[in-house]
Amino acid sequence: MSRSIPEPWRIKMVEPIRMTTKAQRKNALIEAGLNPFILKSEDVFIDLLTDSGTGAMSDRQWANMLLGDESYAGSKSYYLLSKTVEEIFDFQYTIPVHQGRGAEQILFPLLVELAKEKGVSEPIFLSNHHFDTTKAHVEMAGARAKNLICASSLQTEITNDWKGNFDLSKLSNEIKYNRKNIVAIIITITCNSVGGQPVSMDNIRSAARMARDSGIPVIIDAARFAENAYFIKQRDSNFSHETISKIVKKIFSEADIFTMSAKKDGMVNIGGLCCFRNNESLFRQVQLRCVPMEGFVTYGGLAGRDMAAMAIGLQEALDEDHLRSRIAQVEYLGHKLQQSGIPIQTPVGGHAVFVDARKIFPDIKPENFPAQVLCNALYLESGVRATEIGSLMMGRDPITGQQEPSLFELMRLTIPRRTYTDNHMNYVADSLIDVVKKADMLKPLEFEYEPKILRHFTARFREIER
Ligand SMILES: Cc1ncc(COP(=O)(O)O)c(C=O)c1O
Repeated sequence: MSRSIPEPWRIKMVEPIRMTTKAQRKNALIEAGLNPFILKSEDVFIDLLTDSGTGAMSDRQWANMLLGDESYAGSKSYYLLSKTVEEIFDFQYTIPVHQGRGAEQILFPLLVELAKEKGVSEPIFLSNHHFDTTKAHVEMAGARAKNLICASSLQTEITNDWKGNFDLSKLSNEIKYNRKNIVAIIITITCNSVGGQPVSMDNIRSAARMARDSGIPVIIDAARFAENAYFIKQRDSNFSHETISKIVKKIFSEADIFTMSAKKDGMVNIGGLCCFRNNESLFRQVQLRCVPMEGFVTYGGLAGRDMAAMAIGLQEALDEDHLRSRIAQVEYLGHKLQQSGIPIQTPVGGHAVFVDARKIFPDIKPENFPAQVLCNALYLESGVRATEIGSLMMGRDPITGQQEPSLFELMRLTIPRRTYTDNHMNYVADSLIDVVKKADMLKPLEFEYEPKILRHFTARFREIER
């Protein structure tokens, strides 16, 4: 029998978490308008809402924070971060930002403005799949966001190694027939919205080269860059002998710009990046937007200590032992659920297990949010908080006001890095298995309050009869 490989760390500090009673959870959920996003964290036992900024930092990161340089301008910590970015990604120009959406808000409006100056009338961004804040920033800048994800990602029960891939023939058609309107392509690695699924090196290369041949800039949304590189090492025999570091360099050699939420693979609680390979002129223009929106160009909304921790986190993310253990934990939870017949996106992704709520509630309509129903039931049963990735998150078409059709109705069980043990995963799996047994008794939802954009964060709901 093969031995299991334990985590490559030991625990030096613990934070107590509190189990609540079912009655307490019921009250908390009602107060939160049946929206787990509005729950107080002290009412949550195991928090799988997100892997964003919720992981544990290492002793090296904490130690380095004390060396953070808090100078307003020209901080040593900025130069350390910038040097680290250059070493890891081969990108010359770095702007630190407070988190991923900070990069989106300083970059996308400028790209749209520049495109309009060149005569583009209906600006559009193409992506394998835009993350929700990315889509929001593209739309707020007056452009459209189009997703060109491959068909296999839509069939959760089918196993395919590269469900994050672009549908290259769709991309090629868009470029052929709509070239004049395309502002940029965004390659999201791994692709969060379809289940944390990786994009293959071939797909990255082909998509990027198609874009480049037509003079279209290539942006990588790099939140989970190291997890994507690990999947490439595992699943593409051309890279099985490469280091993660080399694979990362190869991926980024295809891009002109990257935005990053460093709260994921950057292993920090707060922080992000907006980086440019060599386009100094664009870098300078984005810097100008950074100052009023994020902060001076050498801190971008972060403390010096945050940048110091990020510099170490980015290096730690490349550690193969860390990546192996992280992905193994996600797989562990996924397999436990699968063994009990719970439908999940397969194979499991890098940061989360995505449960297919459409299959659990075939009769609940998208506008009654089947995955949100499941999130609420799981919380009531166990105090475990998950999140909806489906029609609720998708939102309405900004022009027609109609609900945009969502490719999925998924509940995401997102696992923070270096934070929970497999015993926590056992509890999550057992609780969800019990909930799914009672699926027939759960009630659909409708809006009591519907915000105009990013509605999943603050919406409130009521139950309706099935
Ligand atoms: C793929 C992707 N892009 C961008 C973002 C936005 O990053 P942030 O939450 O740091 O603003 C996220 C956050 O979850 C993400 O997963």
